[in-house]
Amino acid sequence: MNILILNGPNLNMIGLREPKIYGTKTYQDLENYLKSLEPIYNVILDIKQSNLEGILINLLHYSNDHFDGVILNAGAFTHYSYALYDAIKSIQIPVVEVHLSDTNNREEFRKKSVIKEACSTSIIGLGFKSYEEGIKYLIKEGANQ
Ligand code: DQA
Repeated sequence: MNILILNGPNLNMIGLREPKIYGTKTYQDLENYLKSLEPIYNVILDIKQSNLEGILINLLHYSNDHFDGVILNAGAFTHYSYALYDAIKSIQIPVVEVHLSDTNNREEFRKKSVIKEACSTSIIGLGFKSYEEGIKYLIKEGANQ
């Protein structure tokens, strides 16, 4: 199974950024952790990060013909990007929304995800494990098809 892991704005700054919320592990640590899961779950992961909405949209479009599923941490775009919502709706493969932090227990504006409805499921607040649960979900989903 080929999975695209797509990280949005400011996720390249974890480790430095608000460590009380996101921890002290860096983006490189996240990539290393995800890569270590490949043999465990027998998946191939392509891990990308962009701070630009249009690039995330282009990658979502591209993913439709090249991957079996997407794990998307859209960062703050989660809360207001209808363009990302439309991009997810435009593709047929499952997209899992993930977040490192528990967005339901932070600022009010983070409680709303405008992409949630377009995604197959949302996994929130488990740190790096949110991505691992996303992989497990996609494997299960694939097995059900
Ligand atoms: C985040 C939560 C978002 O609200 C925030 O804007 C981020 C990171 C998370 O993974 O917890 O950039 O997506």
